[in-house]
Amino acid sequence: MDHSSKRTVLLALLSVLLISGSQGGNILGVFPSLSPSHLIVQLAMANVLAENGHNVTVITALKPPVTYKNITVVQVPMSEEDHKQTSAIFAQFASQDNSNIFMTMYRSMGQMKFMMDKMRDVMKDQRVKDLYENKDNKFDLVMLGYFLNSYQLGIAHKFKAPVVIAASMPPMEIFNNVVGNPSASSFVPAMNMAVEKGQIMTFVQRVQNFLTNVATEVFFGFLENYNANTYKEVYGDDPNMPAFEELGKNVSLTFFSSHAISEGPIRPNVPAVIEVGGIQIKDKPNPLPKQLAEFLSNADNSAILLSLGSNVKSSHLKSDTNNKIFHVLSKLKQRIIWKWEDLDNTPGKSDNILYSKWLPQDDILAHPNITLFITHAGKGGITEAQYHGKPMLALPIFGDQHSNALKMVKDGFGLSLSLLTLEEQPFEESLTELLENPQYSEKVKTFSALYRDRPMSARQTVLYWSEYVMRHHGAPHLQSPLKQMNFIASHNLDVVALLVIVVIVFIYISKLTITAIIRKLKGKPESIDKIKKH
Ligand SMILES: *[C@@H]1O[C@H](CO)[C@@H](O)[C@H](O)[C@H]1NC(C)=O
Ligand SMILES: *[C@@H]1O[C@H](CO)[C@@H](O)[C@H](O)[C@H]1NC(C)=O
Ligand SMILES: *[C@@H]1O[C@H](CO)[C@@H](O)[C@H](O)[C@H]1NC(C)=O
Ligand SMILES: *[C@@H]1O[C@H](CO)[C@@H](O)[C@H](O)[C@H]1NC(C)=O
Repeated sequence: MDHSSKRTVLLALLSVLLISGSQGGNILGVFPSLSPSHLIVQLAMANVLAENGHNVTVITALKPPVTYKNITVVQVPMSEEDHKQTSAIFAQFASQDNSNIFMTMYRSMGQMKFMMDKMRDVMKDQRVKDLYENKDNKFDLVMLGYFLNSYQLGIAHKFKAPVVIAASMPPMEIFNNVVGNPSASSFVPAMNMAVEKGQIMTFVQRVQNFLTNVATEVFFGFLENYNANTYKEVYGDDPNMPAFEELGKNVSLTFFSSHAISEGPIRPNVPAVIEVGGIQIKDKPNPLPKQLAEFLSNADNSAILLSLGSNVKSSHLKSDTNNKIFHVLSKLKQRIIWKWEDLDNTPGKSDNILYSKWLPQDDILAHPNITLFITHAGKGGITEAQYHGKPMLALPIFGDQHSNALKMVKDGFGLSLSLLTLEEQPFEESLTELLENPQYSEKVKTFSALYRDRPMSARQTVLYWSEYVMRHHGAPHLQSPLKQMNFIASHNLDVVALLVIVVIVFIYISKLTITAIIRKLKGKPESIDKIKKH
């Protein structure tokens, strides 16, 4: 058999497997995150299941940004007041320098508490409780969008259903407890450490990395304390619920929004780590809305997409910054699509600029005439641009965006500027460099080829492993023994301590013996007691 026919047979086998596996389960997605970018990734995972004949119900706080035909949405909407506060939080992030992860963590305690309070309110809402108080509801699988909400694993116990986690990030150390990954801080850089792929950290970097991991651990430890209390508050009235500490042990597997082979870091992952990076990207782009399609098809000198994401609205930025951006972009010969919410209040009109409130970002980036993406460096946007092989100019704002941008620049896919201190001249120079030097485009296209080359697509992977967990009733055989072990045992600290004691005792006894022998040889017999006094 030649290579391609082998591949065909394999694919055919695979699809038989996939089809025969779909018995149509009842699946509950619990996605109360206030971050639209997290929600998009989580819904994309759930949607794969809905499209393949499963009955999918999802709990959300936000209105899903896209309508999914086969998904029943139980939305617990936030009040107008809460929406304003969420918006204010993101605006505050946008106006401060968040490049220092420790300062950001410290300053964001209040904001995190607000978001965690809102997620708690969702879980306490009667619409959500109805799902498990109504005994006719049966779920075969619970998928939990996981970030700052570990107590929500409790809902799976209400249904006696296996639970999988949908994570919109890579398998970082903070997930070790639920997946059972070994700690790897000597060679896996934390998210704020920009270490080039394949490079070993220097001693200083390892010290930094170690301390970062410890600080993160302490920070998330605080948050777990909150989660433990919330667990009592939400489920405390039910004596059949397991202890809070036990919750993580029953997670069957975790879907991560990453692809280590192409993106790095190369690290040990247990089998319960399932990487589905790019899950939100369609295998085939949808046709663009007419206005956008026309704008791009007439782009004689190619086109640029500018979007600062779904959290930060353009109005959050200083108008001065917007004017500078406009002034530079309006002089370019390229066409620009600019994501802008308030169409009555734009920074200015120009023939080469099209403002639009809502943009099908993935479909636009797939368009061959787009040659540059100006982005806030959210994980989602970077992933899409990398998938479609488009160079980037990053203008990071908060959270993981600075490290995403740094990594992207190190990978050679583009450049990064501080949005807070943006000036016209460096902005213009960066654009010229990116539009005229082909090296960025070449590097990102090479990456794109690696990123797409997988035995199963991200969508097939989510489907296969979700059905696997249902077929094997939670697949307890997947569990890493590390999840059952405490810190001392998992690091063999007790064994090391024992060996150290044995060695010390051995050295001590040897010393006594040798001294005794020497004394004897010198012909001065002495009692053991006297030897001790020396
Ligand atoms: C909805 O589910 C049906 C039946 O399982 C399936 O045939 C259809 O393709 C799904 N539609 C979408 C848009 O996912
Ligand atoms: C689908 O799930 C919902 C729960 O949200 C349930 O009410 C409904 O009966 C289920 N449909 C089928 C066909 O099982
Ligand atoms: C975990 O799941 C298994 C079966 O999947 C069940 O027997 C066990 O009680 C669960 N553990 C907890 C702590 O709920
Ligand atoms: C890209 O732009 C060129 C030049 O305007 C045009 O001929 C071509 O049709 C465009 N491509 C698409 C897919 O619209």
